[in-house]
Parts: sequence; C-alpha cells; structure tokens
Amino acid sequence: MTAMTRLGKLQLDAPFFQAGLAGYSDTAMRLVARRHGCPYCVTEALLDQFLIQGGKGLKSAELDDADHPIAGQLMGSHPADIAAGAKVLLGMGYDVIDVNLACPVKKIKKKSRGGHLMSVPDEAGAILDAVIQAVGGQVPCTVKLRRGSDDSPQALTNFHQIFQATIDLGYAGAVVHGRSVEQKYLGPSNWDFLRGLTDQYGGTEDFTIGGSGDIWQASDIFKMIDETGVDFVSVARGCIGNPWVFTQARALLAGDTQAADTPPTIFQQRAVLLEHFQLSVNLHGEHLASRLMRKFGIRFSRHHPLGDEVKQGFIGVMGLPAWKAVLARFYGEDGPGVGGDAALPEEAQETTCPEPQSI
Ligand SMILES: Cc1cc2nc3c(=O)[nH]c(=O)nc-3n(C[C@H](O)[C@H](O)[C@H](O)COP(=O)(O)O)c2cc1C
Repeated sequence: MTAMTRLGKLQLDAPFFQAGLAGYSDTAMRLVARRHGCPYCVTEALLDQFLIQGGKGLKSAELDDADHPIAGQLMGSHPADIAAGAKVLLGMGYDVIDVNLACPVKKIKKKSRGGHLMSVPDEAGAILDAVIQAVGGQVPCTVKLRRGSDDSPQALTNFHQIFQATIDLGYAGAVVHGRSVEQKYLGPSNWDFLRGLTDQYGGTEDFTIGGSGDIWQASDIFKMIDETGVDFVSVARGCIGNPWVFTQARALLAGDTQAADTPPTIFQQRAVLLEHFQLSVNLHGEHLASRLMRKFGIRFSRHHPLGDEVKQGFIGVMGLPAWKAVLARFYGEDGPGVGGDAALPEEAQETTCPEPQSI
C-alpha cells in the first residue's frame, strides 16, 4: 500500500481525509483534525445559491490560511448556477472543487440535487460538465457519489453512466459512499460494491477512487483499503469528537501499533476540548459556539472512563460557564482515557443529516 494519494496535481501524504459533515465540519473541526495529522479536508456541502448570493452562506465558506489543502463541496440543481458557485470557490482559494451527488436530504421544490441526481444521470452529467468547464483546469475537480439511488438494476446502470462520465470529463477522482440514497445511513456500507468498482475502474494514475462508509476507528481505514482496493478513505462519523483517529492512522502507517491503540489521556482530551471550543468561538461567537460544542462534547465523552456521566454533563451545557464547569468536574485530573472507538449506538443508527449550511 502506498501512503501517498494523488488528486490531480495535488499530492496527499496519507491515504485518508476528513469528510464533509453538514452541521459539524466547520473551520474549527477541520483545524483540530489537521493538528492531529489529517492531511486533507472537504467542506460540508455548500449550496450554489448561497455562494452566488453572498451573505451568511458565503461567510461559512471563508477559509483560514492553515486550512489547506481543502476541497470546497458544491451542491445544486442547475448547471449554470453550480458553475457560478464553482467560480466563487475558486476565487476564495479552494484547492479542489468537489461536486456532491450523494446527499440524501429531501428534494427541494421537486428539483433534484445532491444524491437525487443519481437517478437522473443526464442531469448529473450536465452538472459535472458545467463545473469542470468553469474550473478550467485551475484546480482538480472531484465528485462524491453514493453507490446508487436504490437497489434497482436501473440505479446501477445510472451509477455507471455517471461514474464513466466523471472519468471522461477529466475529473481527478471520486469518493463513493457504499450506501444507496434510499438507504440514507441505515444498514452497512457495501464494501463489495467498492471492490467491484476498483476492479473495473481502478489502477490508473489519473483517476483516484476513494471509499466511504463505516469507518469508526483508525484500523478501519486500512481494512477498507485492503478489502476494497480504494486509493484513499473518507473518515466521517468516526472523527466527530475523535480527532485522534488521524493520529492513530498516522501511527499505523508508521508501523507503531502501540501508539495506534493508545487512547487519549484525560488531559489530552481537555486540551482538545478547550482548543475546539476556542476555535469555534472565534468563528461563530460565544452563543452559537456553546450550542454547537454541546453536540461535540457528547461525542468526546466516549473517551472518558465516566462516559455516561460526562455525556449527561455536556447535554446540559447552555453556555461557556456550564462548559467550563463540565471540564472542571470531569477533566481536572489526568488519567488514562478509554478507546471508545466503536460506533456509539446513536451514531451507527444516524438516519439523517442536517440541511447543508445549517449552522
Ligand atoms: C451529520 C452528517 C452530515 C453529512 N454531511 C455531508 C456533507 O455535507 N457532504 C458529504 O459529502 N457527505 C456528508 N455526509 C456523509 C459522510 O461524509 C459519509 O459519506 C457518511 O457518513 C458515511 O461514512 P461513515 O459511515 O463512516 O460515517 C454526512 C453524514 C452525516 C452523518
């Protein structure tokens, strides 16, 4: 296995990255991930209309200098609008433009976007064409797909039409989530589908295939690469409240299995909780940061030996003083953390994701 991953002219020094996660993967979460060894991040899906109209939507796409390399992920329904959105992202300094054909959130006004474009391959192709034309070779383009709209033979035909169009249009790569759009987040990601894909389309330098689905701990990244042959792996729900997954993946790459198995200590957890909170305050202000950090705190609690109590503590947090009180109560003394690598039941059963740019 090679540690390097190529996305067009971009070289990544490790075969994994932080996925787009609507409602979570803002600049604060991405910076924390990078400080733990994540080599590349994708934004949450950014609606073309928000980018074109400016205002709040555009603000959420602003980039920090330390937040590179990064893909800006676009979602939209009309080729001309999504192409205009791509130009906005280019102007903002994004290193890769990614097109979302995977989001299962409901259709808007009967118009397809995200994963719903998987069932209309000609429309999907027109969108892919418009984006790559607008980008004009300035940066690599990629696409995020699901394995199909559903389990029908027609959905499979549509998938291959879209995948082949992506290659023919000159995209640098695709990341495929091994669940169908209809499946949302229920049931397993189909890694056999990913294996079939790399057997059929893999092995070329010019087109990088990434896999997504059911990556809960660092070892899952390498398991997916071994079992499916994908070039790189998307870490999604498994890195919410768990940036150590990236440190541990780097340790596995270096052959250090002991470091890869060592959970973060209480003080390491406290340092990251404080850091993440501060980055979030810088970005959103104290009020919104407090609200957002509650859901992160709940996910971080899995690493604490008193996980359930800590989780209850974070659930009650309504502002900075309450946040500090939870830290003082549970993170004041150092000690070993716990693995907490397996999916929490509520994570594994997550059946929905928020509307893009819901922050
Ligand atoms: C809350 C939530 C928000 C998500 N938002 C996005 C998104 O904006 N863009 C995207 O490409 N995928 C998004 N995804 C999908 C993930 O990137 C990933 O493909 C999916 O969770 C499967 O990986 P996992 O089983 O390892 O979590 C989201 C998933 C969740 C649970």
